[in-house]
Amino acid sequence: MRCSKKLMIPAVFVGALLFLYIYMREESGDVRRMEIRDSLFRVNGLPEMVDTLKFVSTKNNTSSADDKDALLQHLSERYGPVSFVGIGPRNINLTPEEENRAAICLQNAVHDREKNGSRFWGKDEHIRRTHHSYLKNKNAVLIEAGGNKGNDAFEFVKLYNPRYIILEPLEEYTNILKEKFKNNSRVTVVNVGLGIKNEVVMVNIEGNNACATSKFSGANGKTPLYITNATAFLMKLGVGLFDVDLLTMNCEGCEFEALETILSTNLINYIKNIQFATHSTLKGLENPLGRYCKIQELLRRTHKPTYQYRFIWESWRRDDLL
Ligand SMILES: *[C@@H]1O[C@H](CO)[C@@H](O)[C@H](O)[C@H]1NC(C)=O
Ligand SMILES: *[C@@H]1O[C@H](CO)[C@@H](O)[C@H](O)[C@H]1NC(C)=O
Ligand SMILES: *[C@@H]1O[C@H](CO)[C@@H](O)[C@H](O)[C@H]1NC(C)=O
Ligand SMILES: *[C@@H]1O[C@H](CO)[C@@H](O)[C@H](O)[C@H]1NC(C)=O
Ligand SMILES: *[C@@H]1O[C@H](CO)[C@@H](O)[C@H](O)[C@H]1NC(C)=O
Repeated sequence: MRCSKKLMIPAVFVGALLFLYIYMREESGDVRRMEIRDSLFRVNGLPEMVDTLKFVSTKNNTSSADDKDALLQHLSERYGPVSFVGIGPRNINLTPEEENRAAICLQNAVHDREKNGSRFWGKDEHIRRTHHSYLKNKNAVLIEAGGNKGNDAFEFVKLYNPRYIILEPLEEYTNILKEKFKNNSRVTVVNVGLGIKNEVVMVNIEGNNACATSKFSGANGKTPLYITNATAFLMKLGVGLFDVDLLTMNCEGCEFEALETILSTNLINYIKNIQFATHSTLKGLENPLGRYCKIQELLRRTHKPTYQYRFIWESWRRDDLL
């Protein structure tokens, strides 16, 4: 008895230490992730980085962000020693079951688009703003692609006032947004759009308030659209070291390239909610309905829709949060 008692005390002690060690390790991991996320929003943090990014894409159409060592160096300078252990390519070939669903999706596409569009516009369309009450958490991070003049942004700020990065590829509208939100230190506006690669595309301004200006309207215009590789850009912000609460995209066709890029790596695992408008009738888009249906299947592997007007607007949430 004496003997076992003697053994028990050290055992309990060692056990407690082990528990404490594991607990503290996880705790410090979390603290570190929060620190990294928080430092993104420190004054002078983001704008400085983004200027560099815009410079790179404007001057020569290339990105140092595609270089892994440069990315790690950039993040280390920003956040201290970091490693992107989790980010890597994903298999984007559909399984036979996924192929079947995608084929059915394609068969119903035109009908669904019409049906869902007539319900959404003028009726349910505010859901894209009111659906996201989790953004009320004061640490929530919202990234929006396609800010335009800030109609959605204004509502997001009014409803949730999250930590908010607005991306807008037109310089003129970037400046309008900056002016509009200059008093809100939680909002950062960046002159860039999301896509598959870094490029500067010359377009014509189209639609009321330029709202239909698109890389895919096929015009050789006079105004530059600054576009960047969506994955590289998000990684450069540090996404992957922490989660984004919502990525929302209303970007005149950019959603196809941006989603395909994001879904081709497991960066998608670091996006808790992803919302997008689909612009499937733009002339310059290649096979928009087929691509939409494939995107549905790739997204379905990690996320599920929380509302969905197919081919119009929808939002998906990561499986572990459902
Ligand atoms: C592109 O521009 C960046 C920033 O000036 C520069 O570091 C990089 O070397 C340039 N790349 C090419 C291919 O010219
Ligand atoms: C986009 O960036 C990611 C991450 O750096 C890279 O793996 C991918 O090859 C890039 N895509 C293109 C088309 O450059
Ligand atoms: C979208 O259209 C399909 C097909 O008509 C219908 O089943 C579905 O309920 C619609 N979705 C919404 C949200 O209205
Ligand atoms: C920003 O704050 C300044 C000073 O408090 C005020 O004069 C200005 O009207 C505000 N601008 C906006 C756009 O709210
Ligand atoms: C960037 O590359 C695209 C082709 O990918 C080209 O059309 C465009 O003119 C280039 N822009 C600049 C500023 O070099």
